Amino acid sequence: MKKKITIIIGGGIAAYKSLELIRFLQSENFEIIPVLTKSASNFITSLSISAISKNKVYSDLFDLNDETEMGHIQLSRVSELLVVAPATANLISKFANGIADDLATTLVLATDKKVLLAPSMNVRMWNHPATKENILKLKQFGFELIGPNSGEMACGEFGLGRMAEPIEIKNQILSSLKNKNLSNKKILITSGATIERIDPVRYISNDSSGIQGTSIANALIRKGAEVIFVTGKSTYEKPLGAKIINVESAREMYDAVFKNGPYNVAICAAAVSDWYVDNKNSKKIKKSFLKSPQISLKENPDILSDISKSKNRPELVIGFAAETDDLIKNAKSKLNQKGCDIIVANKIDNKSSVFGNLENKVSIISNDKTVHWPKMSKAEIGEKLSDLIENH
Ligand code: C5P
Repeated sequence: MKKKITIIIGGGIAAYKSLELIRFLQSENFEIIPVLTKSASNFITSLSISAISKNKVYSDLFDLNDETEMGHIQLSRVSELLVVAPATANLISKFANGIADDLATTLVLATDKKVLLAPSMNVRMWNHPATKENILKLKQFGFELIGPNSGEMACGEFGLGRMAEPIEIKNQILSSLKNKNLSNKKILITSGATIERIDPVRYISNDSSGIQGTSIANALIRKGAEVIFVTGKSTYEKPLGAKIINVESAREMYDAVFKNGPYNVAICAAAVSDWYVDNKNSKKIKKSFLKSPQISLKENPDILSDISKSKNRPELVIGFAAETDDLIKNAKSKLNQKGCDIIVANKIDNKSSVFGNLENKVSIISNDKTVHWPKMSKAEIGEKLSDLIENH
């Protein structure tokens, strides 16, 4: 008999994504028990859910037929796991306060199984102290959370509140239900952009957002790894459950990396400045109309290269290469020069559209092969890389 998962679909714009989630879970051989809240039925029809899930859609607490077939207490317990996607601010508030005024909230209150929430709401609603308090309470009650992610929202605003991608939710479900395969692994991730100061107000940096490093960290944490996340400048939410070490310059990043090792796996996803300003000014440089200031640059230490050649070398070292031209050729020579095991290569166009974007197209280059992955979300790349590490 197939294992069952209950998916409670809340009333949010992300409700349509639950169809993809159902498909993903079916391909992992789960039977889906769909539950639709009243407000979710404004976004998605019961018909489309039953067509995809090939199961009856439950929505009403007082449907007597259901009570004779399967009572709501029984319904709350038949599955391995209850997943709420999208989990709206309203549902979260009800769960946190033990309210049971419809089928979805009653199932969550009555279940003896784990509940996984995939929050989805406007950024202000997510940041509201009431929601924050509810989330804290739910975590203390033992609820699991995935996301929300950062990005553009249906309402036009930007920030945290987008529901996690169906692939991320699927992988979180799989990892909740199975052994944590990387639970004895300590994994380093460098992420974000370094900053090299010219004077107290000016600096040299780059457009790296830290999205890719964070997605990899999240995927590895879900597999039980101990993640040491050394991050430079980043606008993205830091991975929950990782040890976060904030740094500014490449040299600070270098020190943090070598102070916190050794590691089983190292992933250098940070966009590290190749140079630092040798003649950094302790005071703001004044504008002079006679002469422009001269910036003298010196080479930074190379974290990826030094960790690959270190005495306590991790079993697996992964670097990144962002190139504007001759992508594969340059990435291959980087693999050899730096001595790492894998290079994740991505092409940068003139507009640097990879940076800050939620999608990317990468090639995975190792000594014996090059595999081109199709364009996918950075979350999906994180998942696939974590699978690759797990299978290593
Ligand atoms: O040499 P390049 O900067 O193109 O190499 C990119 C790879 O090397 C990335 O994985 C980056 O994190 C890493 N790197 C590093 N330390 C540096 C420069 C790059 O770890 N100083």
